[in-house]
Amino acid sequence: MSSPQPRETWNLDTSHIGRRVLFFDQLDSTNTTAAELASADDDGLVVIADFQTAGRGQYGRVWQSRPGNSLLMSVALRPPLELRRPVILTAFAAVAIGEAILALTGVQAKIKWPNDLLIRGKKVCGILIENTTSLVIGIGLNLNQTAEEFEEAGLPDATSLGMVSGKALDSAAVVRVVVQKLDLEYGRLLAGERVAVEADWKWRIGLLGRQVTAELTDGTVISGRLHEMSFDGLELDTGDGWRLLVPETVRQLKPIADSV
Ligand code: BTN
Repeated sequence: MSSPQPRETWNLDTSHIGRRVLFFDQLDSTNTTAAELASADDDGLVVIADFQTAGRGQYGRVWQSRPGNSLLMSVALRPPLELRRPVILTAFAAVAIGEAILALTGVQAKIKWPNDLLIRGKKVCGILIENTTSLVIGIGLNLNQTAEEFEEAGLPDATSLGMVSGKALDSAAVVRVVVQKLDLEYGRLLAGERVAVEADWKWRIGLLGRQVTAELTDGTVISGRLHEMSFDGLELDTGDGWRLLVPETVRQLKPIADSV
């Protein structure tokens, strides 16, 4: 079978991400196509589809959306070795999307550990990093769904930029802003400004100083006050000693209700 052809190509005046942006009507998954098309001289390739027939979410879940309702985007990257860590790649993407949401709607989004963006407690965006033949950052950002659509789909805890801003979002304008913000944040990482990205990531997570529960990938659950966090570790004061958790081993990080 012949591979799908893009209906449109953009060449944005960015430094790394989006110098080539390919738009498709339909793909299996933008992550798959981005990984297939990524080449050494095409670092930062962006692949976008109106509709995915086999969109993937975290933990093997399916990611579904009606045509044109969401931004379905993947970025293929070849970061230097020191940046090739899930926590760093997720953090810069989440911070960039938070900044894009602010620019597009005037609303602040929070990062829900590890890969989601929430507005007023409801999920507006999910990020899926995959490292197969190439490293790909997949982004599903809800644009123009209504509360009724989410209810019908059994997703009462989801929201869209249209719902929070009260206006319909123009997807081309969204693409430009999201790609520009991704390029900016990635540029900060490449320029060695990791601490600045880390600071924005911490602020958008918003759990410093709070009582939290960390669920680790091995099933262990640890509770304590989140004293400090960086890409190198999360410091928890458990009341019975300090624990330093490697971010990649933390599957869930949740505030304990009503803690200060
Ligand atoms: C999540 O489970 O929250 C992550 C969802 C990521 C979905 C996006 S949509 C574009 C890209 N292509 C995919 O197949 N998945 C990601």
